[in-house]
Amino acid sequence: MKKICSIILVVGMALIAVSCQQKSPVTEPVSEEPQINTTMEDLLTRRSVRQYTNEVPPMEVIEEICKAGTYAATGMNRQSPIIIAVTNREMRDRMSQLNAQVMGREGDPFYGAPVVLVVLADKNVHTYVEDGSLVMGNLMLAAHAKGLGSCWIHRAKEVFESEEGKQILAELGIEGDYVGVGNCILGYVVYWVK
Ligand SMILES: Cc1cc2nc3c(=O)[nH]c(=O)nc-3n(C[C@H](O)[C@H](O)[C@H](O)COP(=O)(O)O)c2cc1C
Repeated sequence: MKKICSIILVVGMALIAVSCQQKSPVTEPVSEEPQINTTMEDLLTRRSVRQYTNEVPPMEVIEEICKAGTYAATGMNRQSPIIIAVTNREMRDRMSQLNAQVMGREGDPFYGAPVVLVVLADKNVHTYVEDGSLVMGNLMLAAHAKGLGSCWIHRAKEVFESEEGKQILAELGIEGDYVGVGNCILGYVVYWVK
């Protein structure tokens, strides 16, 4: 039996906790017709994107990507990772600044992306890094499948170990031994015409 895993959407300053659907066991092929293997295509064509427009993608697309994240495999099915979906500009900028501070640099480590999906996992679960990393992988692939750009941005661990990072988690009502695994930035890709 699956336990409920959490997606926390930071929309404006509102906080919405969304429960993911339970995964049901696959007992028969999804389709009898051979499908074009879009999974393989997505795996082979996803690339990290480092230039974005300001436009925030529709919330239902963000939620769908998060949902794909919650379907990642986890060690012993402990499902400890959580995803914080940040679309609020103020919060996004605050996290960007904290991330830059870890590097001792100025500038925006999120490359202008309007959305950040922060993955944290419970350090009491011994596979938490692997579990959180698989969630990150799902998020990036799902973003690509939905026509959005993404990139793993590191230093989530250091950000949420800092006093201000802890303060953000407290403001969002997140309690427990959560460690930052990664930030998946999301948005529409800027294409250059040659
Ligand atoms: C654990 C991890 C941390 C990463 N951190 C950053 C980062 O902080 N900034 C960045 O621009 N890219 C980061 N990346 C993206 C990698 O640079 C990128 O995946 C790699 O260059 C391969 O490119 P591709 O994703 O287009 O295949 C990270 C990737 C991983 C897996």
